[in-house]
Parts: sequence; structure tokens; C-alpha cells
Amino acid sequence: MVHAVLQQAVAGFYADLVTRPTGRAVRENIERDLPPGSVAVMDFSGVGCLDYSCADEIVAKLVRDKVKVLLLRGLTDAHREAIEPVLAGAGLAVLCERADGALEGLGASEPTPALLDELVERRLAANPNQVDIGKKLALLEDADAALFLASGMGATALAHLAVLRPGDHLLASEWIYGGVHRLFREEFGKLGIEVSFVNPTQQRTWKRAMRKTTRAVFLETPTNPLLRVIDLEPVATLCKAEGLALIVDSTFASPVNFRPLEHGADLVIHSATKYLNGHTDVIAGAVAGTDQVVDEVRRLMQVWGQAIDPFAAWLIDRGMRTLTVRVRRQNEIGLAVAEWCAKQDAISKVHYPGLPSHPDHEAAKRILGGFGGMLGIELKGGVRAAERFLKGLTIAAHAPSLGGVETLVSEPRLTSHASLTAEQRAQAGIPDGFLRFSLGLEDPDDLIADFAQALARH
Ligand SMILES: Cc1ncc(COP(=O)(O)O)c(C=O)c1O
Repeated sequence: MVHAVLQQAVAGFYADLVTRPTGRAVRENIERDLPPGSVAVMDFSGVGCLDYSCADEIVAKLVRDKVKVLLLRGLTDAHREAIEPVLAGAGLAVLCERADGALEGLGASEPTPALLDELVERRLAANPNQVDIGKKLALLEDADAALFLASGMGATALAHLAVLRPGDHLLASEWIYGGVHRLFREEFGKLGIEVSFVNPTQQRTWKRAMRKTTRAVFLETPTNPLLRVIDLEPVATLCKAEGLALIVDSTFASPVNFRPLEHGADLVIHSATKYLNGHTDVIAGAVAGTDQVVDEVRRLMQVWGQAIDPFAAWLIDRGMRTLTVRVRRQNEIGLAVAEWCAKQDAISKVHYPGLPSHPDHEAAKRILGGFGGMLGIELKGGVRAAERFLKGLTIAAHAPSLGGVETLVSEPRLTSHASLTAEQRAQAGIPDGFLRFSLGLEDPDDLIADFAQALARH
């Protein structure tokens, strides 16, 4: 039991404090901040003799960082001799991993059952990788707190359940990710939460659609796939006046291009699967807002089993290190490709908020930090022309995700809008033959050349 719990608690890269034979690595680890209450691992495998002053310094740091449990690995008798006196009286719970993998306490310092319970709770809610990326996102969004969850869908569901109760009404934009639409339509009713949908670009419809029981408003901006940019301020003013929570899915913008809390939103949601991670190898979601609401999301996350995996959290940490450079570059690439597309005879319409022809161009200039790497195009000749063009493309992969370093193209008629008829799609402004690109980090000249040769087959 003890062994299983600790294995889970320390899983992933965040083996917090790992000694290595070189002084520099030890120094770097000593200087790294550990989240309070974490499990620290000191791995002595391959470490020759132990320098007492270094051991002193490490233990002082562990105490300072309020580490709960110290797990010692690869300990030889010589190491034990050096470390035991330093650890004596430090107040840390210390475990040694024997060569056969079994754990034993060091001295009288074995963790208590209460502490082990807490470690289980931490595994569900606060592994150190999760704590780190939550802090980063809170800083980026200028939020009190942020929390990562197992998926964007999980984050969306629990953000809403944190503020809604049975009998409440949710007013949602009708231009939202298909999976979320389905969640609202198929599941929320069973929980006693009614949902109705409005066109988010018509400000007056929000007010008209409100009911006495309305408790929250949800919208996505920029929208998928038309990239309409919603001006949050009028909606936020209305929500404040009526005492409603404003929840905004800001996945398409990422915090580099838009920070909804600065515009009056109460809660921000991300599918971290997309730009926050940026490498198309993780499924995760995030919620940012006040301490009180994020705490409630955390509680629900434990109860509903929506905790992010520590390794996924570590991958997101890696992805977030390049978030700003990636998104800024994607803003440049987006604009270059959109401007080129706008000049092509074979393309009947280009949807990109950075183009003056876009219906929200003025709002986008005012609200967004950049126009993003998402682009919609319509080809003359509808589905057949789009299919020929798709077959000719050599760089863009045909896949439904977005926000990664590689360019992807998808057809809303087969993905996000598959549940609508062709007429309904046309009415929603997404005629069959509409193509949505998520531009990656390839050279824009290469992307344009690839578009050009694929259009030439048109
Ligand atoms: C805008 C938006 N929100 C939420 C989601 C759901 O996120 P996930 O796939 O991480 O569950 C998606 C997925 O495509 C999305 O595009």
C-alpha cells in the first residue's frame, strides 16, 4: 500500500529533487522551487561519495520548501552514513527504496496513515506538475487561480457545474464547439439545468433570451470555424447587472491573443489540447478564475475523476514555455496566408479576423493581441473543388484538431458541424466545401507554395 501510493505520488518527471553526480545539477535542483507539501525524491544511483555540506544544503532546502515526504533511492551504506545524521531532527518523513523496490522508513520517520491519505488526495488534485502549470496559466490570464483537468470537455463540464445548480438556466452561444453543444443538449437537462442558445453576435438577443432562472452565460471567442470575434464588454456589463457568471472558452485565442478576464469574464476555459500544449500530443483542459470558483472546480475534479495526468501536465509545461513565440509566429503566418488567399480567384471567401473584409475586423483590432493561426476558406466549386484541393495539399495534414506546430486542415461538414444538414450548415454560414486551417509553424512561403500548387489542380 505504502509503495503503491508513493509510486503514484511521484510519477512523472517531477521527481522533485534528484541528485546527480555533478555539482551543477545538484545546484540547479537546490535552486528550483518545490511546491509546498510535495514528495521529493533523492536518487543516489551512480552518486559516489556524498559531500556533507551539499547534503546539509539539500535537507535545509527540503525543510524550507515544506516537503512532506523524502524518498531516497539507490542509497549505499556510505550514503546512509552521510545522510542519516543530517536528516535526524529535520522533521521530514523519510522513506528508503531498497534494491528490490520495497520501501522502509528511515529511523522513526515513516509517513503516518494521515499523510498517506493526503498523498492520495494530491494525486487526484495537486500533483506538482499540475500546480506549476496552474500558476503559469493564472499569471497569463491574470486570474487568482487556474487548474488543469483531463480534457477541454472535462474543464467545460466542471466549470459549469461549479456555478450552476438544478433549476438554473444557462444561456449559451449557439456558435460553440460541437462536443460542448452536445454536452449541454444531452446531459445538462438530466442534471436539472436548462440550456438555451442564442446568436452571440447580436448583443440584444442575450438580454431577450434571459430568464428569471438564468445564472450563467457561456460563449466561445473567436468562434469556430467562422472566427467571429465577440466583443465581451457589452455581454459582461449585462451579466454584472443581472448577477450572472460569464464563462468564456478562449481556446482559439490562447492567452497570448486574448484574456477574457480583462474584458469582464468571470471564468476562462481552454482546451489545453490545443495552443497551450501546442504539440498535438496531449489531451487536457484548463479553467482560470477566482479562488472560490477554481476551488469548487478542483473539488468536482476529484469527485468526477477529471484530474490531469502528471505526465500530461509535464508535457503542457514544456509546451507553455514556447506559447508566446509559437502564437506570435502563428499570428504572422495566419495573416500572410490569409492575405494571399484573399487574392486568389479560385477562393470565393476568406474568413480571417485580420482581413478588412472580415465582419469583426475593427473589433478584432481593438480586442485581440493578434489575429491567430486559424483560417477558414471557401473554394469556388464547393465540395468537389475542396476535395481536389485537399488531395493536392502536401504539407497540411487532414485532421480535426488545432493549435499545434503542424498545419492541419479539417472540413466542418465532417467534423464540428456533421450533425447539421447541408442546408442548416449553409444557413449558419458554413457551406459544404468550407475548409478550416490551423496553421502551424512551417515557413509561410512553403505553405503558400503548397496552397498554390494544390489550387492549380482546381
Ligand atoms: C473551442 C473548443 N473548446 C473545447 C474543446 C474540447 O476540448 P478537448 O478536445 O480537449 O476535450 C474543443 C475541442 O476541439 C474546442 O475546439
